[in-house]
Amino acid sequence: MDKTKVLVTGGAGFIGGNFVQHMVSKYPEYEVYNLDFLTYAGDLSKHISIEDKDNYYFVKADIADRETIYNLFKEKEFEYVVHFAAESHVDRSISEPEIFIKTNVLGTQVLLDAAKAVGVKKFVHISTDEVYGELDFDPTTFFTEDTPLQPNSPYSASKASSDLLVRAYHETFGLPVNITRCSNNYGPYHFPEKLIPLTISRALNDQRVPVYGNGQNIRDWLHVLDHCKAIDLVMHKGNDGEVYNVGGHNEKTNLEVVKTIINALGKSTDLIEYVEDRLGHDKRYAIDPTKLEKLGWVPEYSFNSGISQTIEWYLSNEEWWTNIINGEYQNYFNKQYNLT
Ligand code: NAD
Ligand code: DAU
Repeated sequence: MDKTKVLVTGGAGFIGGNFVQHMVSKYPEYEVYNLDFLTYAGDLSKHISIEDKDNYYFVKADIADRETIYNLFKEKEFEYVVHFAAESHVDRSISEPEIFIKTNVLGTQVLLDAAKAVGVKKFVHISTDEVYGELDFDPTTFFTEDTPLQPNSPYSASKASSDLLVRAYHETFGLPVNITRCSNNYGPYHFPEKLIPLTISRALNDQRVPVYGNGQNIRDWLHVLDHCKAIDLVMHKGNDGEVYNVGGHNEKTNLEVVKTIINALGKSTDLIEYVEDRLGHDKRYAIDPTKLEKLGWVPEYSFNSGISQTIEWYLSNEEWWTNIINGEYQNYFNKQYNLT
């Protein structure tokens, strides 16, 4: 009997990479195809432990390359598409927005067309809480699935645009879709341009840690493996056409996060350097995950257990992130921050 074929786009990145490993080990009866263009954010070294498994395949391709994507869908006839591939960093979308439109909007549309052409069983679109815009600091307010979309950055605007396309392909063509909107992830293989791995890697090297503005902006942190479990659940049990918010009620100010890490590493908080604020910096994100919990999702990690596990992982996998920060990343960092 033919095995169930699952296409994961962006599976060489942070969350997609963790999801590919989750799927390959949990479902030996599935064939998992990791399609990734290997941009600056993608790397295959994270998959050394699974690359020889007979249910794992890698395809290098650009999701916006219509001909290649169509041919692949026709050849493989995927049953499931789980779509992570994207430009994901807000700061980069402020300095260079164009690629965000190409990959996040046009790339998603190409995948939707291909999925429609072959008739998939489910198309899961991995989106973000940033499409809802920002909340104020009132701790009783949360993003629900009915919160209006009010994206503030070119990144979140591109993700909101792709969400609307996914919705439209369901309403117009009956494509069986789900959209998940998750809060900030952290955990193994998080690219060091993002706050948590940036803080860990710089503090370990006794380098200054840049905090935007006054450090009081709030993010709602979720361990990446809890996100992967949520996606697995939605993929198999989500009701067609529905949106599911993903978040674990772990709200922290950026300063709290940075100080927690610096203290855990036994370094001095004098490393903190307040730098110019991000343009259009969203104040607060906070997720109400009730709908997903009703579907059966239970997160495993508290922020304390998750951040300890993550710090341990970065200590044990120094070679992975050192290779990144010693490469092209240096140029990005120097352009983005006036820090040494
Ligand atoms: P990431 O930047 O670590 O990885 C993105 C991956 O997509 C990389 O492997 C990259 O090579 C690949 N990619 C980029 N352009 C491509 C293209 N044109 N064709 C094929 N592959 C391409 O991103 P991430 O943090 O793992 O985020 C994955 C998804 O989850 C994104 O859609 C993002 O919007 C969403 N998301 C992220 C978070 C978070 O906290 N990181 C939270 C919620 C949702
Ligand atoms: O909420 C989900 C989103 O989380 C995802 O959709 C995005 O793909 C992901 O990158 C993340 O976006 P953020 O902008 O919230 O993450 P980032 O790690 O870039 O920043 C987290 C917070 O820390 C934010 O308030 C900005 C601040 N920050 C960030 C960096 C990189 C700093 O203070 N200093 C920094 O150097």
